[in-house]
Amino acid sequence: MKVDVLLGLQWGDEGKGKVVDVLTPRYDVVARFQGGPNAGHTLEFEGKKYVLRSIPSGIFQHGQVNIIGNGVVLDPVLFQEEAEALEKSGIALKQILKISKKVHLIMPTHRLLDAANEKAKGGAKIGTTGKGIGPTYTDKVSRNGLRLGDVFHNFENKYTAARDKHLATLKAMGETPDYAELEKRWLTAIEYIKGYDIVDSEYLINSMLAEGKSVLCEGAQGTLLDVDFGSYPFVTSSNTICAGACSGLGVAPNKIGEVFGIFKAYCTRVGSGPFPTELFDETGKRIRDLGHEYGAVTGRERRCGWIDLVALRYSIMINGVTQLIMMKSDVLDGFDEIKACVAYKINGQETKQFPFSVEEDNLEPVYVSFPGWKTDMTEFKNESEFPQEFNNYIKFLENELGTPITIVSIGPDREQTIIRNK
Ligand code: GDP
Ligand code: IMO
Ligand code: MG
Repeated sequence: MKVDVLLGLQWGDEGKGKVVDVLTPRYDVVARFQGGPNAGHTLEFEGKKYVLRSIPSGIFQHGQVNIIGNGVVLDPVLFQEEAEALEKSGIALKQILKISKKVHLIMPTHRLLDAANEKAKGGAKIGTTGKGIGPTYTDKVSRNGLRLGDVFHNFENKYTAARDKHLATLKAMGETPDYAELEKRWLTAIEYIKGYDIVDSEYLINSMLAEGKSVLCEGAQGTLLDVDFGSYPFVTSSNTICAGACSGLGVAPNKIGEVFGIFKAYCTRVGSGPFPTELFDETGKRIRDLGHEYGAVTGRERRCGWIDLVALRYSIMINGVTQLIMMKSDVLDGFDEIKACVAYKINGQETKQFPFSVEEDNLEPVYVSFPGWKTDMTEFKNESEFPQEFNNYIKFLENELGTPITIVSIGPDREQTIIRNK
């Protein structure tokens, strides 16, 4: 009986999808617990590339049960597009995917509200993915939300009430969208989604655990985007942290086993908000080019910088991380020098604590510098091949972070993954 959690420790896009796919053969169930189509999880294997948004990354292995848990917000239209593409490529999705009745539905008006809210914020905008995430979670918390299970219970009345409320809000904000087409498309997708197993996923998951089955929970976004602990207000609207797996699936805290914390060998961020180690120079551009750091959902340029150990220590603490997974080290393979931020200087005072509010004007990262390993590691099969400089870097990170690095990813492909002996 085991529930392990895999989640991002930075600002998202750490490579969660790739590693969930790699780890899936160890589990019976893979489950998403929060977020929605703001996520873009990329998997590469056998020369093919897939980007998943709402569907868990455990669908490509050996027939594991995949669950979209109650903590997720689901856009039926985007779900249908994603699911149909997967079915076309031969995945028997209807047989392996279960969706919680308690999932909250993203309506077209939520997306319009997301855009209108961003417009109203002007220069202070969050830089959201525009998928309606914030407005949908707002409706959930304010008890106005529409859940997937509602499609079987007096749906029309509930839907119409929510729609009219949203349209009135939009009108008050000066937005009068042409809604008819959007509504038609959305209602068609609702009919499509009814073809899936819509379940009491908290019962399903707990009964599978009682039978001795194991579960891997797949986080979306990252800890620094968590609504409570991230760089508020430049965050997403869900709990991306380990605790989110409990509330987003109905799994009790004492069932959690390993917590895999995943991070890039450097750092990226997409959208607005503070980023202490951001690089605005040639090095930042080089990382972006070599790492193909462009958003999987929006295509936006990702901001790039050096690894931030102050932020990582904070994320490890909040999540109770037991194992670390380092991604994209290959991007740094050709660098002469690699830097890591070990502390912040705030108003001249050195601290290792992640501050309440990151004010970049008076914050200066304190770096240590390492010689690069200058070795193409992308074809390596075993950690025994790692050059000395790379081993030194790993040892340094493990000491600073107080947690073992058990997996190193050396390229986007499923095969480019080195499992280390603990
Ligand atoms: P996620 O949202 O955490 O699943 O991450 P994304 O899929 O948004 O972004 C990670 C990107 O890096 C994807 O394009 C992956 O294919 C790619 N990727 C994953 N691991 C590695 C790696 O070790 N090296 C390189 N070069 N690319 C990787
Ligand atoms: P994955 O799962 C990176 C960012 C957005 C924006 C903020 C709020 O692929 O790692 P939202 O649309 O959630 O209201 O946007 O959060 N963001 C992500 N950044 N990876 C993600 O997901 C993200 N999901 C949201 O860019 O700054
Ligand atoms: Mg992503």
